[in-house]
Amino acid sequence: MHSDPRILGYLGRALSLELSAVQMYSTQARLCAAWGLDEPARRLREESLEEMQHADRIIGRMVALGVAPNASQLRPAAVGADLMSLLQADYAFELELVQLYYDAATHSARQGLSDDRLFFQTLLEEEQAHARELTTWLAELDRPIGASLDPVLSATVQTSTERAQARISGDADKEGWLNSGQANRRRAQRDLAAQRARNGR
Ligand SMILES: [Fe+2]
Ligand SMILES: [Fe+2]
Repeated sequence: MHSDPRILGYLGRALSLELSAVQMYSTQARLCAAWGLDEPARRLREESLEEMQHADRIIGRMVALGVAPNASQLRPAAVGADLMSLLQADYAFELELVQLYYDAATHSARQGLSDDRLFFQTLLEEEQAHARELTTWLAELDRPIGASLDPVLSATVQTSTERAQARISGDADKEGWLNSGQANRRRAQRDLAAQRARNGR
């Protein structure tokens, strides 16, 4: 058992978020496939596998510390009416992970726990890379989101996360996303056609 209970708390929260990310990306990959967006579906599927590897690493860490993983509550998968809204929700989610790992790595460093700091720092850098990839993807879709990647700016992270989640859940209620397949498909195909036109394909 770890001597610092806060480290166990960070690990527990990380496991819940990583497993939620698996559920989210896997769901979104299926949605994109249903909309006929094969390439986004492939990328989101890859993302879900990466998040599963993160969850596996956290489980490994917990087991090594003699702690039984016990994530019991997953975050509902963020869904939306089009690819843009999915990616914006993903970005907000990645920022939450960035913030968590930043806090965990900072705490570990302050306590002189170098193994823990390294463990969380590596995850932090990988989630920052995910967030950067999403900003690039969103920029390709031509809608800047204007949020900061700097984990120190927690207020910005919090605000953007809450705003994105409120908007996504509002869209989900309003649009009945799961049952409006035709409209979703047409919108998704328009997004893809616009993206292809911009890319000269
Ligand atoms: Fe992750
Ligand atoms: Fe991620």
